[in-house]
Amino acid sequence: MAVYKITVATGSDLAAGTFNNIFIILVGEHGESEKHQIARHWSHFLPGSVTEFDINVEKDLGELLLVQLNMECYLNFFLDDWFCQYVNVTSPSGQLYQFPFYQWISKPGSVEVPEGKGVIITGSTSPILLRQRKAELEMNRETYKWKVYAEGVPRCIDIEDDGVFKLPPNDQYSLLKEMSFGYNLLSIGFGTMLKGFMFNKDSWHNLEDIKLLSTLRQSQKSGLVSEIWKEDSFFGSQYLNGVNPSLIKKCFKIPENFSVVDEMVASSLGPSTNLETELQNGHIFLADYKILENIPTNTINGKQQYIAAPMCLLWKNPQDQLVPIAIQLSQTPGEHTPVFLPSDSEFDWLLAKIWVRNSEFQVHQIDSHLLRTHLLAEVFSTATTRQLPMGHPLYKLIIPHFRYTLEINVLGRKQLLAPSGHFEKAWVFGDGGIPLLLKRAMEGVTFHNLCLPDNIVSRGMESIPNYLYRDDGMKIWLAVESFVSNIVNYYYYSDVMVKEDPELQAWVAEIFKEGFLQNCSSEVPSSLESIASLIKYLTMVIFTCSAQHAAVNSGQFDMYSWMPNGPTTMKSPPPTAKGATMEAILKTLPDVNTTALGLIFMWTVSNDPLDTRHLGNYPNKYFTEKTPQQAIKEFQDKLTEISKHIKERNKTMDLPYAYLDPSVIENSVSL
Ligand code: FE2
Repeated sequence: MAVYKITVATGSDLAAGTFNNIFIILVGEHGESEKHQIARHWSHFLPGSVTEFDINVEKDLGELLLVQLNMECYLNFFLDDWFCQYVNVTSPSGQLYQFPFYQWISKPGSVEVPEGKGVIITGSTSPILLRQRKAELEMNRETYKWKVYAEGVPRCIDIEDDGVFKLPPNDQYSLLKEMSFGYNLLSIGFGTMLKGFMFNKDSWHNLEDIKLLSTLRQSQKSGLVSEIWKEDSFFGSQYLNGVNPSLIKKCFKIPENFSVVDEMVASSLGPSTNLETELQNGHIFLADYKILENIPTNTINGKQQYIAAPMCLLWKNPQDQLVPIAIQLSQTPGEHTPVFLPSDSEFDWLLAKIWVRNSEFQVHQIDSHLLRTHLLAEVFSTATTRQLPMGHPLYKLIIPHFRYTLEINVLGRKQLLAPSGHFEKAWVFGDGGIPLLLKRAMEGVTFHNLCLPDNIVSRGMESIPNYLYRDDGMKIWLAVESFVSNIVNYYYYSDVMVKEDPELQAWVAEIFKEGFLQNCSSEVPSSLESIASLIKYLTMVIFTCSAQHAAVNSGQFDMYSWMPNGPTTMKSPPPTAKGATMEAILKTLPDVNTTALGLIFMWTVSNDPLDTRHLGNYPNKYFTEKTPQQAIKEFQDKLTEISKHIKERNKTMDLPYAYLDPSVIENSVSL
């Protein structure tokens, strides 16, 4: 008789425990054990509990490959889900086998958990493991299906839009996160209602009144933004260190449809230079919002809303500030398309800049934030669950970077994007405009612009000073790349192994098909041929889901809670002549209740609810081998070093840039 010592750990979430009956079967290369019930005791399977017991098996099972966990209802507690963290088994010879799981078991029946060593399928893989992986993926593909969200847009998970509770339990928020998210939302929602902002459909009477609303909540930066928002240097700095730092490009030639000429910008550039010289010197930059042209707009409070498609020319001046020097609000030049300049009247220049900020808000939210982080992360997540079994080392590497992504996206589609959702009530685009804008934005997504180093070079932004998104982002990119490289090089010995890994290739192909819609011009790979290409691909996936999302998500309240710095919508058409007044500006800005809805959104999405996991923090120990565990430790040490450097630098800055401090970046898109 052989005695195996078993340890079973239950998750620590409040709802993780179970009163159901749990059974276990050990499966080894020489056979399997009987089905053993884990003895019922009041302390077994409580949240956070670790239960130890022995089982007797008739013979030594050899190398252990799997454990089967079986849940049966006790007193009809059929809804009593169990979150199992891991099972450890010590064999009669003293060999420790670890079975990391970290999943919910939510219905009666059995699941098989493979031993923790990362396994890539080869010709010599055990038939038992092959069978387990096939069964796991078949079940996942039944549970996680694709559906079309909108034509030309990445596919999403096929869950009915009536609630997140239809999601598989592994993808639902924890109780703690659900409650704190709800609290953040309701607390500011009630605040704006009690003060009467939510019921006021009028225009603001003056800019100062907006502070009555924006100061209901404050962040470290939001108050300062409301003081300096009119300054050209702050306007320009947001292209580098604001919440949409990937739009601006170096300009080598003024676009033909932009009517700006040398004389117009002479007073900005000063007597010692001119536009041509500055173009040649690489000091001129362009923000072009052509993508917004003719997108259908909402009607809010019975008023038609409007959008512009501006171009904004910026100059890196000798003080190393990036400042706007010309704005044209339409892509079509002509008599009714003036070029606005800093030398115009205060209100003309201010209104032109507000229009650009409104355009910036739309492109930031729909293209940079929704499409390039949330929707792509959902594709990566869903493809992973469908194509990579839990025993695959790359599953272990990337699964922490999809935590809660499906829930926030399902919530977003239901509460924000759907007809009568938040966007239709408070933003310029709703159910009509957003799918069209997403489709256009998708045409601009390429593999290279999802990879930070290539993205920076393609926009000519390698050398502009004070570009902290680039500087901090590159440090994180390199840290992720080094971590990924250590993991990949441990499991893959050659390029051939990459090419011949059927599960990896199916994963990449599915992302190309369902996420990038087989668009070859995107240069997103449909297969991977080498270790180097695999490292770059995985780095892109992890960076997109963590750092890139933090860069475009975390500062929304800072930058937009002062509404004139980022109006969600505009309710007068763009000016076709100069002569603006403050009255015209106030008539153009969103109504009081629309502003309040915008503020609620910014507060809720910028404040992490409880239950967050920051970059490199992997409490679920999917890797059981020493080398990957050491790689995680090195990654964490590197991130700590980067964080320390950023914190030190920020102490010296009036407007610190902390969105890419690894200590506040979340591992995944969860908000
Ligand atoms: Fe987000």
